[in-house]
Amino acid sequence: MGMGLSDLWYENAIIYCLDVETFNDSDGDGIGDFRGLTQKLDYLNSLGVTCIWLMPFFPTPNRDDGYDVADFCSVDQRYGSIADFVEFTREAAERGMRVIIDLVMNHTSNEHPWFQSARSSPDSPHRDFYVWRTDDPGDTSDQVVFPGKQEGIWSFDDVAQAWYLHHFYDFQPDLNTANPAVRDELRRVIGLWLQLGVSGFRVDAAPFIINHVGVPENNYTSEPHLFIQHMRDVLSHHKGDAIFLAEVDEGPTIIAEYFGGGNEFQLLFNFLANRSLFLALAEESADPLLSGLKDIPKVPDTGQWVNFLRHHDELNLSRLTEVQRQTVFKAFGADESLQVYGRGLRRRLATMFGGNRKRLEMAYCLLFSLSGTPMLFYGEELGMGENLDLPERMSVRTPMQWSAGQNGGYSTAKPDDLVRPMVTTGKYGYRRVNVLDQRRDAGSLLNWMAQLIRARKECPEFGWGVGEPVSTNAPTVYAQRNEWSDGGVAVAVHNLSRQPCEVTLDLPADEASQLLCLFADATCNTADPVPPTFTLDGYGYRWFRVGGFR
Ligand code: NOJ
Repeated sequence: MGMGLSDLWYENAIIYCLDVETFNDSDGDGIGDFRGLTQKLDYLNSLGVTCIWLMPFFPTPNRDDGYDVADFCSVDQRYGSIADFVEFTREAAERGMRVIIDLVMNHTSNEHPWFQSARSSPDSPHRDFYVWRTDDPGDTSDQVVFPGKQEGIWSFDDVAQAWYLHHFYDFQPDLNTANPAVRDELRRVIGLWLQLGVSGFRVDAAPFIINHVGVPENNYTSEPHLFIQHMRDVLSHHKGDAIFLAEVDEGPTIIAEYFGGGNEFQLLFNFLANRSLFLALAEESADPLLSGLKDIPKVPDTGQWVNFLRHHDELNLSRLTEVQRQTVFKAFGADESLQVYGRGLRRRLATMFGGNRKRLEMAYCLLFSLSGTPMLFYGEELGMGENLDLPERMSVRTPMQWSAGQNGGYSTAKPDDLVRPMVTTGKYGYRRVNVLDQRRDAGSLLNWMAQLIRARKECPEFGWGVGEPVSTNAPTVYAQRNEWSDGGVAVAVHNLSRQPCEVTLDLPADEASQLLCLFADATCNTADPVPPTFTLDGYGYRWFRVGGFR
């Protein structure tokens, strides 16, 4: 269909998610800003990142960390100006890095002028920007997104004298995306940011956007997915290689619909693999991963999964069975203070693994070799931990740890003035976990991560190719073979267990005789082909190139 590989850049990207607010503060007011972020672009570039995903930076009352947007068309002045933003995207582009930004189409802040206007009068031109009802909705507590933190999905507004819909917190009224006037506004928002230099959007809460619950039947009804197709057309017309990366945490059948056979979102977060991965890590067995991956739908030619271990939200285990969920809780967060909403863990990976370096390496190595595009959440490259004193998911969103100096090098403000406290004490505090120290230490996790990213870039098969599990005789080992149309073959082998094992890979003889080690834990340092039977340390891993290096 005439697509060049450069149009498919996102199928082989290294995505790095960060929040401007907590990344780097350039003016000492205790809040990260665009100028501070721009100063760190060389860091991200040398780490190997090719695409930066920015969490919301729009004007906001900040009651849901910016996911409560009060103006889609501007930069919150605490983070800088539009000029600072454009300088940032231009500086990123000069280094060959793309930028994608959060697009929250499902709701606004209740402080958004649209909502203020909407509630003021039934005749407001913005009334139908939101979803209202005048009858009592009754008990909807079973439909909330944040159990224990929300009572229902409808709240009564005293000014409007009506109930408004909000799938998330009550200060986030849902937009009525069935309304053409709303669509028109969103269309302009997409156009604006593309023009200011972004390569696409992370689409927040995608299933809720098209779930027109409560919207009157005769009110602009259309097939819900048509809205997404429409937005995709808008996107692609503006910029041919721009992308949508959508958040759709659903089961396999429903999730696949959001690719729309190539007409809707290009990228979807691989929530399916994520939960199987954590179950496999908890059980120290390849089985959950093997059976989980079997259920993952095929992507269209221009589609791709984005694989991740942890992100800015809780590790959501709600789609595992009760027994499976308890297995993961037991392994990675048995204490209730580590859990949230009765379904997830509010920890980072390093703390879940008790800082076990070998296990961390194996998990990231496995993540980077799963078919798809890998994503890191800022600080994962250092093994940052969390601050459990912060509410709900904020625990994992503490400021970036740059050095052992004042406020971890994040800001020169007084600690009390920081927008969010640093992780200060203990094994994961900034004095012990930071960029500067790890940069100087050749054996650090940071330097290891840069090597992993380099190896990943040498294996485009994992992103552009087709992957199949390789059968082995070792139940704790997950092995995968990826092949790309240029004939390249890469094989990745990971031991999920703390116990060492011997493994035999069931590969065709011509490939089995040409396994050259590309990236591995310390046990594979030979320049000669490795036989397909070998031993792996506990949490050992090896990546091979069949036939040699590219
Ligand atoms: C999903 C985001 O990841 C989460 O952090 C936010 O609270 C909700 N969407 C609402 O925007």
